[in-house]
Amino acid sequence: MTLRHAVEQLKLTAQNRLLRDQLEGQQRIIGDSVPMKALRQQLGLAAPTSGRVLVYGESGTGKELVARALHNLSPRAQQLFVEVNCAAIPEELIESELFGHVKGSFTGAVEDKVGKFAQADTGTLFLDEVGDMSLRTQSKVLRVIEEQRFTPIGSGNNLTVDVRVIAATNKNLEEEIQKGNFREDLFYRLNVIPFYVPPLREHPEDIPALANYFLGEFARAYGRRPKHFSESALETILHYRWPGNVRELKNLVERMVIMVPGERIERRHLPPNLYRDPGRSGPPRPGTSGFSSLQEARAAYERDYILRKLQENHGNVSRTAEVLGLERSHLYRKMKSLGITLSE
Ligand SMILES: Nc1ncnc2c1ncn2[C@@H]1O[C@H](COP(=O)(O)OP(=O)(O)OP(=O)(O)O)[C@@H](O)[C@H]1O
Ligand SMILES: [Mg+2]
Repeated sequence: MTLRHAVEQLKLTAQNRLLRDQLEGQQRIIGDSVPMKALRQQLGLAAPTSGRVLVYGESGTGKELVARALHNLSPRAQQLFVEVNCAAIPEELIESELFGHVKGSFTGAVEDKVGKFAQADTGTLFLDEVGDMSLRTQSKVLRVIEEQRFTPIGSGNNLTVDVRVIAATNKNLEEEIQKGNFREDLFYRLNVIPFYVPPLREHPEDIPALANYFLGEFARAYGRRPKHFSESALETILHYRWPGNVRELKNLVERMVIMVPGERIERRHLPPNLYRDPGRSGPPRPGTSGFSSLQEARAAYERDYILRKLQENHGNVSRTAEVLGLERSHLYRKMKSLGITLSE
């Protein structure tokens, strides 16, 4: 297969994916809050140009979504959007990944390889997690960005390309520059148009719309009847801090669509860390269990247990207290401390 042929094939595949995404409406950016409106306005201004964009934001805020929207709304939309995850590629492979190589140029180079810069010719190159690029790679990328020219490893030919570069990071690059981890000159090259994607806790007014959108998407994807959040469940997700931002919300909704049997998602269906105070103010929890301490796990267990007993006794606190062998006043206190209300 010739180089040109390989690139054409890649382009076709990507165009099919783009069409499918458009058909499925997967590129929609949800949210009408002031910061999201501002973001959309910025998108409208920046997309039609070839100006380099640096997208900032915490993990899960929608940086990649914004980068794809920039491409899809640009005159390059019919060309490729090529993504490079700078954090995921081992240092010794990144040059070949970006610039390509010719067969036999190093051990393991068994075939010609088209680099990402060449693939993205006339399209968009998305340098994701650019803050994780090594200093050595940064200096190479700097040169290519300036000259739009590069040489694949082992090749005598200089290739000239026309690539729009969009970069994203969840690191504070100015701090990284201070620490000597990021090149200042590259920063200024990439940061022609800065985009800030706010964390979800800065625009909680978008939570209901996002939740409804994901409820619809997942119900369709799993062929389930649409579900909705009860008022108290909605209240809970509105007040949670969402350290994992929109991705965390999306994952929660998926889980609810799969795991909640009825059509109404109640507060008690939500994972306990959502309605407990540490969830509102604390950083993301370590570990995979979702509980940061034994105490928290015990409280969650107690809460579920008491809720179940209350249900079995049709919400009658006196009878439930009797079943549990507790004073009625003690059960009331426990319910209060565990955030259980009888409406649940
Ligand atoms: N405003 C939004 N409307 C609809 N979906 C969104 C929105 N923001 C984020 N999403 C969805 O949330 C998920 C996470 O978004 P994305 O991958 O763009 O985040 P990110 O900032 O690149 O995260 P990371 O830093 O972890 O790579 C994606 O599935 C994305 O489609
Ligand atoms: Mg991302």
